[in-house]
Amino acid sequence: MDLLKKCRVYTRTDEIRDARLYPYYPSFQGPSGGGRAALDGAEVCMLASSDYRALSTNVEVVGAAQDAIALYGTSAAGTRLLSGNLDLHEELEADLAGFFGYEAALVFATGYMTNLGVVSGLAGDGDQVYLDERAHASLVDGARLAKASGAAVREFGHASPGELARQLASAPTRSVLVVTDGLFPVEGCLAPLAELLAVCEEYGATLLVDDSHGVGVFGLGRGVIQHLGLEGRVPMMTLSFGTSLASQGGAVLADAKTIDFLRHVCRPQVFSTGLSPADTAAAHAALREIRRRADGEPDALAAAVHLRRALDALGYDVAGDAGAHVPVRFSDEVTMLAAQRLLVDHGVFTTVRPPACEGFELMLTCTDAHSPDMLEAVIGVFTALRDDLLSHYRRAA
Ligand SMILES: Cc1ncc(COP(=O)(O)O)c(C=O)c1O
Repeated sequence: MDLLKKCRVYTRTDEIRDARLYPYYPSFQGPSGGGRAALDGAEVCMLASSDYRALSTNVEVVGAAQDAIALYGTSAAGTRLLSGNLDLHEELEADLAGFFGYEAALVFATGYMTNLGVVSGLAGDGDQVYLDERAHASLVDGARLAKASGAAVREFGHASPGELARQLASAPTRSVLVVTDGLFPVEGCLAPLAELLAVCEEYGATLLVDDSHGVGVFGLGRGVIQHLGLEGRVPMMTLSFGTSLASQGGAVLADAKTIDFLRHVCRPQVFSTGLSPADTAAAHAALREIRRRADGEPDALAAAVHLRRALDALGYDVAGDAGAHVPVRFSDEVTMLAAQRLLVDHGVFTTVRPPACEGFELMLTCTDAHSPDMLEAVIGVFTALRDDLLSHYRRAA
């Protein structure tokens, strides 16, 4: 049997292309992190970027990346363990730990690698991993690796501390890692962290929160843990730098002994080139900027509230009520893809659900760069297209 046969018979994307509905790998000409972007020669309102604080084009952040390249070159040029460790990495780690209230931090080359490395580095033979069933793919993949080295892996119902408690009550071991996102963008909701923490404390389990979508946005930039008043109580937190920190990379925050352990055993850390100087410096400058602005709620949140209410009032099926995201549900894949194409043709760029994921949402993501005028223009497009978009619902229903 030819291994590559599955690729040759893979026609799903051809069908979508033939229908002129292919939405993946859009090729932007210029920055895609701001409120506007250039796509196929036209300007679109960009509602698909995770650059929540609009810092990827900020002059301080860009300048820090340029300076780092001038001083350190383009690459860390080795694994941090052996040769690619820079003072830039260590300075960022010290500031991340201080800002988020942990003893220590460890920076990785991506958020995905952070979660992969932390979950698989901590859980193995004799341990148990409990994942929220909607946890990010990188946490799931970390658990798959942990399973390969002997850990037992189970899922609990999305945002369901009650189900977690029932499962833990019948668990044969107390060596347990519980894993959840802090904010679930697709569902538009915060994790019930206080309740999850109470269950973990009762059963002696360790809670890991991936707050990639909460940092910079909630809790005066410190994220969902701070927002919910749980600072100092969640033993471990991870984040991607691809969101509010306007860069590439990721980090885990924990007590000093745990971080030291991970520094030496975590395979994505030990066997991969260190984060580049430019990415490290950009993330650090973005962190400083977020700290400087920590005096009120980000515009991104107010923009999302406004957009959510307006689309709901227009009769769209809007999910959730938290964060910078406005998920709009459609009944099936074709309807979702047709809606996305129609909106792009009218100058509004949203994301669709990736092919391998459940659900048929368009995701509208707000950032600090979305001015009231831009939002009114977007609402105007959704108003003008309402019958077209909603008739797709009805046809498919
Ligand atoms: C919740 C969450 N965690 C981790 C990641 C992975 O981070 P990165 O893009 O930095 O690899 C993402 C997506 O990008 C995410 O949404």
